[in-house]
Amino acid sequence: MLKIGDTELKHGLFLAPLAGVSDRAFRKVCRQFGAECTVSEMISAKGLHYNDTKTAVLAAFSEEEAPFLIQIFGSDPEIMAESAQRLATNNYKACRNTCIPNGIDINMGCPVPKISGNGDGSALMKNPKLVGEIVKAVSEAVDLPVTVKIRSGWDDDNINAVEVALRAEENGAKAICVHGRTKAQMYRDPVNLDIIKDVKKALSIPVIANGGIYTAADAKRMLEYTECDGLMLARGAMGNPFLFSEIKAFLEGREYIPPTMRERMDVAMKHIELMINYKGEYTGVMEARKHLAWYIQGQKGAASAREKVNRAASLEELREIVNAYLSEF
Ligand SMILES: Cc1cc2nc3c(=O)[nH]c(=O)nc-3n(C[C@H](O)[C@H](O)[C@H](O)COP(=O)(O)O)c2cc1C
Repeated sequence: MLKIGDTELKHGLFLAPLAGVSDRAFRKVCRQFGAECTVSEMISAKGLHYNDTKTAVLAAFSEEEAPFLIQIFGSDPEIMAESAQRLATNNYKACRNTCIPNGIDINMGCPVPKISGNGDGSALMKNPKLVGEIVKAVSEAVDLPVTVKIRSGWDDDNINAVEVALRAEENGAKAICVHGRTKAQMYRDPVNLDIIKDVKKALSIPVIANGGIYTAADAKRMLEYTECDGLMLARGAMGNPFLFSEIKAFLEGREYIPPTMRERMDVAMKHIELMINYKGEYTGVMEARKHLAWYIQGQKGAASAREKVNRAASLEELREIVNAYLSEF
């Protein structure tokens, strides 16, 4: 069992923060299939500080997605602390939440130049002293547990996840997630399991492993090798929220029966309807295109169905394309 503050997670199975993907709809779907805790897309601390409405919308959530962590990014300890406090006390006028999150997560892994070039995200891996200051400021500002998501290091010559994780722990972090790739690697393999194992050995707070988990066998290997306390699924869950059920069944020694194509597409359509409920039909349909492509990836007829999906402009059209696709199975 993994414990973060008062939140107890039986297997420590997390849906990763995924900008443009882990929105309310996807978080809800993943919870239904066994994700025990979900994390928001990364949210700009500065955006919250300056009352940006679009930023606030990203922080919206409901009890159905909980246990839930809100992830913030930035590098100014004061601004990070202030925005975390507003999220933790629901003191944000543009975001009508009816509950507070179970914790605040800090992004120290984003490799995108727009973020790391500003000193935020993965750039923090280069500055362990600042990591300590940020974690301390945020931890002191909120009554909620603070967690940190890091990478193995900046590049192969600077693998310092243990040092950064220790700084975070000393300054109040209640759990650490380690993505076993460097910033320079972006999302390329291999995932460094040794560094995740080293962080786990060095820390007394829970350590969550992340990187390259696509099957229950990957999950088994990660857990056995690193001896970490939990797993965070990212690209493996995109178009495949069923991965949570598969891993859960494995961890509980139960047989796993994969969904049929019809069941997969039923879930995909429910997911899309939720997106449309939250974002309206135009944005929902535009964003649904990539999700549908992931749901059918690797299946017979996927390429031509994807082309049709990319031209669809309404929920009704998407339904027709999916029904025609299923009739060919
Ligand atoms: C589309 C996409 C968006 C992401 N957005 C975030 C984010 O907002 N915050 C974050 O900490 N990591 C983000 N990540 C990184 C993932 O959470 C995860 O660490 C990474 O994908 C490695 O796991 P995987 O190999 O299982 O995909 C993102 C990754 C992808 C592919």
